[in-house]
Amino acid sequence: MSLLTVVFALLFYFATAVLVAGLVYRIRLYWKTPVPLRIPTTPAPTTQAGVVKRMFFEVTLFHSLFKSNKWIWLFGWIFHVALLFVLLRHLRYFTDPVPSLIVLVQPLGIYGGFAMVAGLAALWARRFLVERIRYISSPSDHLMLALLIAIGLSGLGMKYVAHTDIVAVKAFFRGLMTFSWQPLPGDPILLAHLFLVAALMIIFPFSKLLHAPGVFFSPTRNQVDNPREKRHITPWAEQPQSKES
Ligand code: HEM
Repeated sequence: MSLLTVVFALLFYFATAVLVAGLVYRIRLYWKTPVPLRIPTTPAPTTQAGVVKRMFFEVTLFHSLFKSNKWIWLFGWIFHVALLFVLLRHLRYFTDPVPSLIVLVQPLGIYGGFAMVAGLAALWARRFLVERIRYISSPSDHLMLALLIAIGLSGLGMKYVAHTDIVAVKAFFRGLMTFSWQPLPGDPILLAHLFLVAALMIIFPFSKLLHAPGVFFSPTRNQVDNPREKRHITPWAEQPQSKES
């Protein structure tokens, strides 16, 4: 077993542990954070079913972003949908036999690779070209975009410039899942791709990328607009009843 294989095997176990534990920790925090006020952004649904519908359109179509800024919506939506297809295409490295849906999605995953990089490039350009946005952009905003673009470009590089042995890559990752390690090919572009992916997994729970699970906990989106029908009192905000009264 080469040193390279051992280093990357340990790196991916570590990255997976950080990603899972970090997400559990952060989602638990979101879950337990008190929401003492009714603050849905109106017009808001007045029933629970309405909230489910609102959330569905928010998550699939980025509805509120559409209403606020068409350009960010366009590039952001393209990037996220493309990423979804890229990730679905990647499931072939982790499944055996590969489910027919994942086989079907393979060509879409390649278009997704280009669309993902194009969407990210536009979102990044905005951070340089729009003065107001440049002013509020922090290093981490730039880093996340750079990291995702670098992952996309190194992936496309493997597909179109310097091929790697994808059968061996699959064997390596299946081996990690079953704890029977297999050798990892040493192509620099593959190692760069995987190193960046591991970095993304480690950074994810501590970064702005947490908006992915976070959107479900957004009170302005997930609350029913029913304060006229129902009185809402947060348990810890209730005044203790005095004994005399
Ligand atoms: C452990 C996880 C990953 C592994 C093992 C992996 C492996 C690979 C391999 C071997 C290729 C080349 C495919 C070919 O030559 O046909 C590739 C391509 C690509 N990867 Fe990854 N990758 C991983 C995660 C990711 C992630 C998280 C992203 C996006 C954020 C990504 C984005 C891409 C893109 C855009 C391509 C080019 C399109 C394609 O061929 O699918 N990869 N990846």
